[in-house]
Amino acid sequence: MADYDDFAWFYNRYWNEEFHSLAFPILERIWLARVPAGGRILDVCCGTGYLAGLLAARGHRVTGFDASAGMIGYARENVPAAEFAVCPAGSFHSETRYDAAVSTFDSLNHILEPNELEATFHNISRALQPGALFAFDILLEKAYQTHWGEAFALVRDDHVLTITGAGYDFRTRLASCTITMFRLIEGQWRRSDSLIRERCYTVEEIGDAASQAGFGELTCYDARDFGMAGQLGEGRTFFVVRRR
Ligand SMILES: C[S@@+](CC[C@H](N)C(=O)[O-])C[C@H]1O[C@@H](n2cnc3c(N)ncnc32)[C@H](O)[C@@H]1O
Repeated sequence: MADYDDFAWFYNRYWNEEFHSLAFPILERIWLARVPAGGRILDVCCGTGYLAGLLAARGHRVTGFDASAGMIGYARENVPAAEFAVCPAGSFHSETRYDAAVSTFDSLNHILEPNELEATFHNISRALQPGALFAFDILLEKAYQTHWGEAFALVRDDHVLTITGAGYDFRTRLASCTITMFRLIEGQWRRSDSLIRERCYTVEEIGDAASQAGFGELTCYDARDFGMAGQLGEGRTFFVVRRR
């Protein structure tokens, strides 16, 4: 079972809009303005489809994929106009050639093995038309050294969610935290615990993986310079690369 399956319900309800209300205006400036009108867009690690919905509403044909069947279940409900598949990024393959690709909310940090990250860039590159732009955001080390997985609790009458046990090991560059959720369903409280793990990559590692996969012209944008203040913007960098 993928890590996000258990709290896909909570993610879908609370976290989509909070992130994308800040991220989408950035994507519009640095990437979407250069994507052909009505073009096909691939959303890598698309989660519950919130971004796919924004893109579809602007006339794009969107395909999203994600390792979590729970997240994809919500995506299909949320955006019937888009296509979705359950697939790990390291195994993604498509016969379609897309005009652009995107991956948001530090999804690529969730890929823990550098060779899987390289395979992911290769898979995306193969699925793109020459000249197509791939935009994504990554958390750099500063994020893991400051607010990563900061303790959090939300208590409502029929659901409770906590984030605890956050840690970052600067030697292995692996970060983790536990998300515990209780939901009252048909009179019974149900508990789930999900371990979320991320790897911190350097700009050089990202640049090398992208370059080896056939991307050139890498541009970086600090999220804070584009108005993403507070914890969400800390250590977050947006990248745009062009398929050669
Ligand atoms: C923080 S969420 C972001 C979701 C979505 N991109 C968004 O902006 O709302 C990270 C997503 O990455 C997915 N994910 C993690 N590892 C993955 C992998 N190896 N392949 C595909 N999806 C993965 C998770 O299931 C989760 O939906």
